[in-house]
Amino acid sequence: MDFQLKTLSTAQAATEKADALIVLVAAGTSLTPGDVLGSLIAQARKAGDLADKAGKTLALYRPSGVAAPRVLLVSIGDGLPASVRSAVIAAVNAAKAANPKRAAVVFAQPVDAAGLAAAVLATADASYVYTTTKSKAEPRTLRQVVMGVADAEALRAPFDRACATVAGIELAKEWGNRPGNHSTPTLLAEAAQGLAKLPNIKCEVLGPKEVAKLGMGSFAAVSQGSSEPLRFIVLRYQGAPKSQAPVVLVGKGITFDTGGVSLKPAAEMDEMKFDMCGAASVLGVFRALGDIQPAINVVGLVPSCENMNDGRALKPGDVVTSMSGQTIEVLNTDAEGRLILCDALTYAKRFEPAAVIDIATLTGACVVALGGVRSGLFSADDTLAAALESAGEAAQDRCWRMPLDDEYAEGLKTNFADVANIAGRAGGAITAAKFLQRFASDYPWAHLDIAGTAWKSGAAKGSTGRPVGLLLGYLLARGAGPVPAGTKAAEPKAKSAKARAAK
Ligand code: BES
Ligand code: MN
Ligand code: ZN
Repeated sequence: MDFQLKTLSTAQAATEKADALIVLVAAGTSLTPGDVLGSLIAQARKAGDLADKAGKTLALYRPSGVAAPRVLLVSIGDGLPASVRSAVIAAVNAAKAANPKRAAVVFAQPVDAAGLAAAVLATADASYVYTTTKSKAEPRTLRQVVMGVADAEALRAPFDRACATVAGIELAKEWGNRPGNHSTPTLLAEAAQGLAKLPNIKCEVLGPKEVAKLGMGSFAAVSQGSSEPLRFIVLRYQGAPKSQAPVVLVGKGITFDTGGVSLKPAAEMDEMKFDMCGAASVLGVFRALGDIQPAINVVGLVPSCENMNDGRALKPGDVVTSMSGQTIEVLNTDAEGRLILCDALTYAKRFEPAAVIDIATLTGACVVALGGVRSGLFSADDTLAAALESAGEAAQDRCWRMPLDDEYAEGLKTNFADVANIAGRAGGAITAAKFLQRFASDYPWAHLDIAGTAWKSGAAKGSTGRPVGLLLGYLLARGAGPVPAGTKAAEPKAKSAKARAAK
């Protein structure tokens, strides 16, 4: 997606050459009807043809004095980011019918950084198309977008950040959307290695031998029913001195989840190709970090394998030994996400992290609890939880904090190992988080269950790229580097920058 930022008044917007011109109008804006667009808006409002409600549109064809053949006047209501987002999505969807190649999206009144970022992200979201596995790939038609604002220079930094965020979200969507046979652990690791071309990013990939040597018996056990070799991806972004403790992101990278011997039902099983969306969000974050180059350190860990069935597959009742030394009774082979994440959480310790955040399409129970609107957030650390919550609000990539009372861990007790991998049906998203918490006791930790938010089902089936926006907002708010668009509450800077020797 090629975005360009320009200073454009409504008068200048009328001369902008584009297949479609989208004009965003806030409620109560007093326009000086000295120019064509200004007076069209004023007349439309007066006649009641452009309601103030965000998302209301009025389409005009070849209005005289306007260079663009198609003009859409769009209300953005109160002008808040959420209203801008819904209005721009409505407008781009309406404009798409005419297959515009080049569009201009112009604010009719001054806009702040958060409003502009919301418009950029929404334009990209509404015009995204997946093509990789289609033979007659009709590429995305809308590829060039001019964003018009009253003062382009004042908004350059948040604009660049929004464009980088788009690149990260689109990378996450691409890998999420690819079918399992086009996104194996090996291919995912190659994509991660590709990111190491960006400045300050390094990537290391471990295979089955190295993982066995590390003692990751839980991760390896999930992989053993598949003929695709597992991969453990270690990404590093270093934008600050080595002495600054990094944030570690851990992404669940199950490239296909059949459930294993505890086989899933056939209906909608195809959607388990999205079971690596946590991993994809980590790749997306690194893609954006490579563009933005903030002064922070970030490590990305992705345990990646398939959860398949064959003669060597893990069986219910099997006991495996995790890298932490804790033994785990696998009562259900479909609760595999926690089995690969627990070893990555143990591995994370070596970075002496300021915080560790895991991102996983972990439980159907989280979809029942929160639907597709908010991701589940679990953390015993109030500061970390608050920082993630506010980053989610600012990025319109929301999450909701869930409890972690110790009573929820009762059901994980077993007579045959230190812990079982499932408890009863009740509170399934929370018991999964309690399982992970046992392996994350050495650093501030948060878990994001994105089972409901990482992709959409039905006619609009596809990856959403969430929670790349939330994670980037959180990371950028921590650093001394650029503050993300619209973020007000920032977490206090890293406690004492402990000297560390990562590996
Ligand atoms: N990847 C699934 C979680 C999932 C299921 C996400 C449906 C989105 C939609 C995970 O590996 C899984 O199968 N979890 C089980 C856990 C259960 C066996 C305790 C689940 O949620 O059913
Ligand atoms: Mn599963
Ligand atoms: Zn899974």
